Amino acid sequence: MAVPPAWGKTVLDPVGIYGSLQHARECMRLARRTARDYLNFGDGSLPNCLRMSFHDAATYLKDQDVGGANGSIMRELEEGALPRFKQHDGLQICHALIKTAVPLMRATGCPQITYADTIQHFAATAVEMAQGPAVPLLMGRPDRINETDPVEHFSTECFDPEQQINFWGNSGFNDSIKATVVLSGAHSIGNVRAAKMRNCTQAKNDGLGPFTSNPYKFDNHYFLEAINYHQMPRAYPNNHLMYSDISQTFYGTRTFMLLYKYAQNNTLFFQDWRTEFQELSMLGVSPTQAGYTIHDGFCDGCGEPESVAWPHPSFAAPPALPLFFPPDVPASAITGGVATMTTTGPNPHQTRVPGASVAAAPAPMVDAAASATAAAPAPAMGMAPAEAAGTAPAGAVAMGPAMAAASDAPPAAEAPAAAPNAGAVREGSVATASLP
Ligand code: HEM
Repeated sequence: MAVPPAWGKTVLDPVGIYGSLQHARECMRLARRTARDYLNFGDGSLPNCLRMSFHDAATYLKDQDVGGANGSIMRELEEGALPRFKQHDGLQICHALIKTAVPLMRATGCPQITYADTIQHFAATAVEMAQGPAVPLLMGRPDRINETDPVEHFSTECFDPEQQINFWGNSGFNDSIKATVVLSGAHSIGNVRAAKMRNCTQAKNDGLGPFTSNPYKFDNHYFLEAINYHQMPRAYPNNHLMYSDISQTFYGTRTFMLLYKYAQNNTLFFQDWRTEFQELSMLGVSPTQAGYTIHDGFCDGCGEPESVAWPHPSFAAPPALPLFFPPDVPASAITGGVATMTTTGPNPHQTRVPGASVAAAPAPMVDAAASATAAAPAPAMGMAPAEAAGTAPAGAVAMGPAMAAASDAPPAAEAPAAAPNAGAVREGSVATASLP
């Protein structure tokens, strides 16, 4: 294996590390296939590994030329007990998974694969598996898994838009406003699972749970919900969006116009996600010496034919998910033995509650997913108890024409019955969801 260049001069080295471009491609395919086998929502590893790529790469400080997508997150998590690396809390799921997957890949066809490459390709695959865009990424990031990167400047959930723009600017992003908004779109999937939220203003700091009403689907519903959550938080009783998310919607910030654009145009979000995520995955690693730009990729045919149709096989036999209901949910609201989640057809969390759209709508912009989930809350993935029930106010379900066009939710007629918490089995205050 090639010896990585001196600190501060990390260059992409696909041939040096993998022996040839051909073999680098094979390793890339192996990484993506392994990710598909390993990642799933049941244990939370899928969103966790998307977050891991951010925490590995965004330590980069352009001025000092330190940090970046170099696998050092592995060491930093091992030192996780130190307060210095508190920012990485919650990433232990992906850490354990990568620690298993890399030796496996090294033993089965790619002895050279780096942790740094694995982390970025697992994240790209996670997005694909959650129905997001396929993103081709390069191979050849050298590892620095025995070192730690500076994390003191790392973003927190209390960052306002300007602080976030600075953060991404310091990391070397060309367009740090775009990076702030589009990369936060990662919070369309996943949970707050470990962070003890600081008490920043105007955000719900009440513990653990999914960011959005559909934490399984990667798309622009995050932007819709951030806007609406700010305007009428009670319509989103289950959301755990953070101040750093919601503050981007504030009128007058440098982020809010772009956020509204993504809320209305999923295609635009996907396009920009591709380029910004490629940039993120190359922070601190210069591709030019190897003859690439950051927007090149090794993923010939990325997304197909290897990409998986929804639902991914990992949905076929998920572990039983604990659903915790607050004590004030009437037992009568919880029926049957089958969860509303299906393994075929459209994702039920995306559907509109039948008949609900007739309500008077005070909200300027409302999305379908939230209303459906207010009726049938999404379970928190592989995590500790989260509040999982709630009722949306009548006004929370109307959909403006622009939103209706932008949304890919199936027509209301196809939506499943909207019995609150339908199908969850109650055991005291804890229910177990099972799939048909
Ligand atoms: C200013 C920027 C950001 C801040 C302040 C931030 C903060 C956070 C926090 C506090 C959590 C909860 C962690 C926990 O309790 O487990 C979280 C989760 C998450 N973040 Fe971010 N984040 C930011 C940007 C990003 C970016 C750029 C990505 C991906 C490219 C990302 C992906 C995720 C994902 C997928 C989760 C859910 C993880 C899971 O379910 O285990 N975040 N983020």
